[in-house]
Amino acid sequence: MPKPPSKSVKTIASASTSAYSPADLLKLARPCIQALKPYVPGRSIDDVRAQYNPERIVKLGSNENPLGTSPRVVKAVTAALTDSSLYPDGASRALRQALATHNRVKPEQVIVGNGSDEILLLIALAYLKPGERVVISENTFSEYEFSGRTLDAEIVKIRLQDYRYDMDAYARALRPVKGARPKMMFICNPNNPTGNYVTHAELEGLLKKTPKSCLVVVDEAYGDYATARDFPRSLALMKKHPNLIVARTFSKLYGLAGLRLGYAIGDAGLLTETLRVKTPFNVNLLVQKAGIAALADTAFVNKSLTTNEKGRAQIEAGLQKLKLFYLPTQANFICFHVPRPAVELCEDLMKRGMIIRPLKSFGLPDWCRVTIGTREQNTFFLRELAEVL
Ligand SMILES: Cc1ncc(COP(=O)(O)O)c(C=O)c1O
Repeated sequence: MPKPPSKSVKTIASASTSAYSPADLLKLARPCIQALKPYVPGRSIDDVRAQYNPERIVKLGSNENPLGTSPRVVKAVTAALTDSSLYPDGASRALRQALATHNRVKPEQVIVGNGSDEILLLIALAYLKPGERVVISENTFSEYEFSGRTLDAEIVKIRLQDYRYDMDAYARALRPVKGARPKMMFICNPNNPTGNYVTHAELEGLLKKTPKSCLVVVDEAYGDYATARDFPRSLALMKKHPNLIVARTFSKLYGLAGLRLGYAIGDAGLLTETLRVKTPFNVNLLVQKAGIAALADTAFVNKSLTTNEKGRAQIEAGLQKLKLFYLPTQANFICFHVPRPAVELCEDLMKRGMIIRPLKSFGLPDWCRVTIGTREQNTFFLRELAEVL
């Protein structure tokens, strides 16, 4: 007589829980996944409240928009809530059309994702084979390395020179090794966390040297804030260089970090391959509406840009007064050097309700990054920083 099914299920369950520890189970993962380091996010307001319960908390640690969310976005999302029972348009047609119009490209040249984090991973998933080389910079956003390592690619890191991207070293990294050239290059422009940028001429120079078989992914998450005249007109470079992909986000200037929306612009054929690996509904209904409303709210965008400009001048003047060395920025944050371990200093600031980012996880243990906030937030930051110094 066969045993009743319920009993046999129970036997398997108890055997598996007693025989395996979590570490054993992790060994089932691909070796490249076992070696991945989890993303280190900035500290949240809830975290700091639970740990220190200060009187007031100001968060300038994750480069979010200090003005919050556009009222037009709130209205659009609220109106769309009643349709939550319906699947969204899996191709995000209206949103991609709005982005295409905004950027003067064709909708087929635009893909959208659950934050630009997802876009970076989708590009890697579609194009990287194990062992192929990916060139990235040191002291930059972690997700380029993460995306490459997820696909078991080989990561080649280029050192910064005078805190800037070393474009000659990027070009040298294009040389074949054992007959193969790199498959992908990532450039963060402006760079998180240093805030400086690669110029149009520098990017064009690299693209001219790069074979079409190597994809150049330029992450312009902070490009909206750049005011330098020689900041790359990256979309114009695409005409001659179809291997260029530009990734952007709604998390910064458009104030949608919590909703998650990123996009990329590139050659239509190239991005079609990327779409094959996306999940069917990767950008939800509310986010699609939010993105369209955010693009249309030029008053909010302009106010955000002005706030950033003024705040930059205010923080720079404050850091000068404190005699702290900082890097010139084209983004919505400032990277500055501190005279003691940044992790400790940031912890002291957190006790006082001021959240900024120590840059140890970016390989810069004596540096901090502060998001440019409103006048009032910046004043609080500078006052508390002076205290803990
Ligand atoms: C350089 C850079 N790229 C991409 C992202 C991720 O943006 P998203 O929120 O769209 O995933 C960030 C987030 O901080 C970033 O700093």
